[in-house]
Amino acid sequence: ETQVWRVDPGAPDLEHTPQIIAAAEKLIQGEIVAFPTETVYGLGGNAKVRESVHKIYEAKGRPSDNPLIVHVATDEQVRAICTEIHPIARKLMDTFWPGPLTLVLPSRSEVSDSVTAGLSTVAVRMPSHPVARALILASNLPIAAPSANRSGHPSPTKAEHVFHDLDGRIAGILDGGETGVGLESTVVDCTTTPITILRPGGISKEQLIEAVGAVSDDPGLTRSDQIPKAPGMKYKHYAPEAAMYLVPSGMERINELISADKNNERTIGVLTTEENRDSYPGADAVLVCGKRSDPESIAHHLFDVLRRFDQKKVDVIYSETFPEYGIGKAIMNRLSKAAGGRMID
Ligand code: TXA
Ligand code: MG
Repeated sequence: ETQVWRVDPGAPDLEHTPQIIAAAEKLIQGEIVAFPTETVYGLGGNAKVRESVHKIYEAKGRPSDNPLIVHVATDEQVRAICTEIHPIARKLMDTFWPGPLTLVLPSRSEVSDSVTAGLSTVAVRMPSHPVARALILASNLPIAAPSANRSGHPSPTKAEHVFHDLDGRIAGILDGGETGVGLESTVVDCTTTPITILRPGGISKEQLIEAVGAVSDDPGLTRSDQIPKAPGMKYKHYAPEAAMYLVPSGMERINELISADKNNERTIGVLTTEENRDSYPGADAVLVCGKRSDPESIAHHLFDVLRRFDQKKVDVIYSETFPEYGIGKAIMNRLSKAAGGRMID
């Protein structure tokens, strides 16, 4: 049975509250628990114990070739995992940690193969969410944690998403309310010159460039003839049950598509924004995902909206698209995966 511990992220001295202590004890005993971070909910286990890490893969139904991120709260924990911290990696840590940035660094041989999926590198992140930090400190463990969804589903941004996917499969959930960014961390490979973005996320390319100068993109992210360097990026992900299509030309084209579908008796969902909420009178479910004028709000709501389409039981979803700068790059990466790359001109 999965326990749910409610916790107020703003409470003082979180590390010593009964809920955090209860969750930390589960981790120490080798169990796995879900917890909020500033990006999405994570499913954590003791990174040092192979059996705990295996439980994570099993609960998620995750392919074993897809390595996990180790979550830390102190510099000492970072040094226990990585062999060397290059000056550029150090600069990134100083600028963006704690926060939504994951660094791929050369790993120490002690780090379990079950965390790294046998790679010679390890992904490390220092989250800023007070509940995540308190859990790491209370357990005094490096916590291996992927997003707390069943493999292939959208990442969870609310405790109820975790409950829906993993009830009965994990020891507990720390419910700290909605997460902030709403999309996962940016994954950056620090073993290349220049550094390489393996997954766009909460820290934008523009921010990285401002901090360290040159930054490249993994060609596997956009080219179908190249394999992504982050194993997780090659899998189908985030997909709602309905067939989803991105429609870059926007509102008028979507309304044409709706008219055509009406003749085929398909039920239709539209993913839109505050600005266009009343523009699709022919659709069966119009879900608003933030404001176009505020891209952060779109990131914040995106995964919840994708999950809500499943409840609406639509046959097809047409989605508006967004400019690919700042957080927009990560939004379009997730939308395009959710659509399985399908796009209508
Ligand atoms: O925001 C986040 O990053 C969330 C929260 C919970 O921290 N976590 C998360 O984990 O999104 P996950 O497992 O869903 O995604 C981790 C990504 C995967 O694409 C994985 O393949 C990649 O990071 N990754 C992990 N270790 C790697 C490594 N050593 N080299 C390259 N890619 C790696
Ligand atoms: Mg994930």
